[in-house]
Amino acid sequence: MDPRTPYDGPRTASAPSTPSTVLVTGGAGFVGSHACVDLLDHGYEVIVVDDYSNSTPQVLTRVERIAGRFVGAVYELDIRDRHALSAVFDRHSVDAVVHLAAHKAVGESTRMPVPYYDTNVGGTTSLLSAMHEHHVRHLVFSSSCAVYGDAGGGPLDESTPARPTNPYASSKWLCERILDDVCRHWPGFVVLCLRHSNPVGAHPSGLLGEDPAGTPGNLMPYVAQVAVGRHERLRVFGGDYPTPDGTAVRDYLHIMDTVEAHRLALDHLADESGMRVFNLGTGTGSSVLDVVTAFRSACGRAIPFEIVGRRPGDVPELVADASAVTRAWGWRPTRDLATMCRDAWHFQQLNPHGYAGSARRPGKEE
Ligand code: WQD
Repeated sequence: MDPRTPYDGPRTASAPSTPSTVLVTGGAGFVGSHACVDLLDHGYEVIVVDDYSNSTPQVLTRVERIAGRFVGAVYELDIRDRHALSAVFDRHSVDAVVHLAAHKAVGESTRMPVPYYDTNVGGTTSLLSAMHEHHVRHLVFSSSCAVYGDAGGGPLDESTPARPTNPYASSKWLCERILDDVCRHWPGFVVLCLRHSNPVGAHPSGLLGEDPAGTPGNLMPYVAQVAVGRHERLRVFGGDYPTPDGTAVRDYLHIMDTVEAHRLALDHLADESGMRVFNLGTGTGSSVLDVVTAFRSACGRAIPFEIVGRRPGDVPELVADASAVTRAWGWRPTRDLATMCRDAWHFQQLNPHGYAGSARRPGKEE
C-alpha cells in the first residue's frame, strides 16, 4: 500500500470540521468523485481507496479544487486486497463506508462475467472482512435497479422481485444477499442499500464528469463523446423493444442527486439496525432516442446514430419508484434530463479528451 500525498496543491486554511470520517471505495470514479465533493462540502473527513482501473488520480485533485478542501488520504489499491484494505482501517478511524468500487457496464459484464463477480462480489466480501476486523459497522452500499431485470413497464418499487438478466446486475443482487446475511449475524451491523437507476450528468463546474477508461459502455458518456467528435455515430442497441419509440427506456438520474442521497444515507444509518433497501430514481423513463434528442438540444449539434441489434443482457424498460426514500428521508430528484445533458456536455466541452486530455479548467490551463 503506497498512500499518495493527499494533495500537493495550495492547501485550504481549514481542515474538515467534523470528526465523521467516511471511507469511499471507488472514490476516484464517476459516482465516487462526485460523492467525495458532496461529502467534503458537508464537512466530512474523506478517505479514498481506488485502483484507478476506471479513473485517474487527477480526478481527486479536481475534487479538492472544487471542494476547496483536501481529501484526508488516498490509497491506490485493489479492493480485493484484504491486507492493503485492512491497513487503511489501521491508519484511520473510519466511522462509515460508502462502497462504490465496482465494474458497472451491463454489456461488458456479459462478455466478462467472472471479473465482474470477482471485483463486485469479491471486493465486497473483502471490504466486509476489513470492516468486521476493525469493528466498523456502518455501510452505504451502491446497488442497482438493474437487479429487477425485465419486470415490465412503469416505476418499480423495492418489493419487485429481483430477476437480474446480466452478470453486472446479478453481482449486485448477490452482494445484497451477502449484506443481508451479514446484518443478521453481526450484531449492530447496519447497511443502507441504494439501488441506483442510471446516474448521468456531471458536476456543474465542468471539472468532474463521466470519463470511463476506453470506449464508454454506457449511453450518456458515449453520446457526449459523439457530440465532441470522438466517435462518428451512436449505435442504438435495439429499435424493436415494446416501448413508445422502440428503443429501451431507463430512469436517468443526475449524478448530484445520486450522491446527495448517499450523504443523506449516512445521516440515517443509525435510525435502525439491519439492512434497508431504497430505490433512487426520478420515476420517469426516457428512451435512448429521448436522450439523443435532449443531448442534441443541450449541445446544439447533431448526434448521428444508427439502430443496430439489441445488446445482450438489456431489458426493455427500467424505471424506479423512489417514493420510499422520499417518505423516509425527504430526498427527491431536483434536476431534469435537460440539466443532466447540459452538465454532461459542459464537462465534455471542457474536457474533449477526458481527464487524460489535460483538460482546460474554466479560465485556466492545467
Ligand atoms: C442505457 C441504454 C442500452 C450504450 C446501467 C449502468 C449504470 C448502472 C445501472 C450504477 C440501454 C443503450 C447504451 C450505447 C445504446 N448504475 N445504449 N448505445 O444498461 O441501463 O446499465 O445500470 O452505477 O448506470 O451500467 O445503462 O447506459 O449502458 O444503457 O443504445 O452505446 O442505452 O442498450 O438500453 P444500463 P447504459
